[in-house]
Amino acid sequence: AARSMEALVSLCKRRGFVFPASEIYGGINGFWDYGPLGTALKNHVRDHWWHQTVECPPLDPDSGEPLSVLGLDSAIIQNPKVWEASGHVGGFSDPMVDCRETNGRYRQDQVEVLFVEGRGAWAFPENKPDAIAKKLRKAGVTIDDGEVKNLSQVDESLYGTIVAPDTDKAGTLTPPREFNLMLDTYPGVIRNEENKAYLRPETAQGIFLNYLNVLNTMRVKVPFGIAQIGKSFRNEVTPRNFIFRSREFEQMEMEWFCSEEEAPKWYDFWKHERMRWWESLGIDQANLRFRDHGSDELAHYSSACVDVEYRYPFTAPGFGELEGVAHRGNFDLTAHTRASNAKLDYFDQELQLRLKAEGVGKDEIKERSRYTPHVIEPASGLTRAVLVLLCEAFTPSPERSGSDYVMKFKPKFAPVKAGVFPLVNKDGMPEVAHKLYMELRQRFACEYDAKQTIGKRYARMDEIGTPFCIAVDGDTLENNVVTIRDRDTTQQERVGIDRVAAFLAEKGC
Ligand code: GAP
Repeated sequence: AARSMEALVSLCKRRGFVFPASEIYGGINGFWDYGPLGTALKNHVRDHWWHQTVECPPLDPDSGEPLSVLGLDSAIIQNPKVWEASGHVGGFSDPMVDCRETNGRYRQDQVEVLFVEGRGAWAFPENKPDAIAKKLRKAGVTIDDGEVKNLSQVDESLYGTIVAPDTDKAGTLTPPREFNLMLDTYPGVIRNEENKAYLRPETAQGIFLNYLNVLNTMRVKVPFGIAQIGKSFRNEVTPRNFIFRSREFEQMEMEWFCSEEEAPKWYDFWKHERMRWWESLGIDQANLRFRDHGSDELAHYSSACVDVEYRYPFTAPGFGELEGVAHRGNFDLTAHTRASNAKLDYFDQELQLRLKAEGVGKDEIKERSRYTPHVIEPASGLTRAVLVLLCEAFTPSPERSGSDYVMKFKPKFAPVKAGVFPLVNKDGMPEVAHKLYMELRQRFACEYDAKQTIGKRYARMDEIGTPFCIAVDGDTLENNVVTIRDRDTTQQERVGIDRVAAFLAEKGC
């Protein structure tokens, strides 16, 4: 698995999907740049999510009418009071134990490793993780599958110097401390605590802040959703596994506002809708699963949460998180009501009428029909979705000459839909091929390539995941038919030159 991840990262760089950020300066840990093809892939996933969530949302299971989901693009930096109210200043942190090397090649007091609850410990003096792991295990901390658990149980007797039994290296473990994951910044000219603001660690809060604006301007009724796609930032202690956990990433989130009594129904509804959506990306069902959160791992705002998980090469045969569908209760709107004094409750006229018809008493109607909506939140990572599509598409192809790998993207998400080639760069073929390319490029992302052998051109298209290659040959000049090669099967079929655009459209390009 490690080898296949290494090969995938290398292909991504070699073929223009993902580059390390600031590469010419040695990079910067936890940050990545998306190259021309990675950007295309990411935009296709983003557009598909937006289309299926906002423009063409699922139907209400009861009425059969489309659900109301509205789009939003809120600021990355908000008033810092937002993050106090939301609980992120106080609670958005990882418990962490530092280990200071006092010996060996590290400088005294240099914080070199961190054990982080729920994360790996492999960073600890790269050369000797086992000795420390053994000590931690003895103290009740478990390290399974690269995940650290029960850090809060670290025994005090362990603070202080640890001498690894089989080396002369010594280190000290500090007591567990909370490490806040928000990155801060100082808008304006004065750089002091008072002017500190945060880069958002989730897009969700921007939605809660605009709940009232949307309600007052868009003629919507509860239940409805607000969706947003955008960058989020977390000062992750151990960014790792390529773009899986980075410090700057993109999220696709929707907050679904509903009544408390209907919240369980909608939780179930969105859970299954989200799984259907992931399957629509062409991901093998066997590589996806649900995992319910235990009560001990729920985030500070959440009363129930289920993850959609994917079998990544670095978790296989196990699974890792892809999306969380959380029941946030009315935690956020209540917290912002309390902290800002804004009135974020909702008057449910339909409920009022229904209760009246049921003969419910006046006082009870009044009390029940005004409430602070509950929220079901499907929250996923766009950049993590890109990683999943890359992993899912990545297929070694030792049987093919020229390319070691084929990227089997579903045509809809492929960065390039078709390569157009003259079989040879002479005899009238380039002119016909280039003309076809000029027509196709008006509808599809295409590439024209006349250089090198046709085998090499196919190989390059395989590695960037182009689903179809169209060759213009002698038969084209005589009979107006081209050869279309299928990326996955390498089967070729003859298609009339005036049918090529329709062919690509039918294949979902
Ligand atoms: N608003 C809720 C929320 O942000 P989360 O589980 O912390 O919940 C949602 O994040 C999704 O965002 C995750 O399932 C993951 O796909 C993505 N995500 C979170 N942290 C990430 C990181 N450091 N790098 C890449 N993606 C991340």
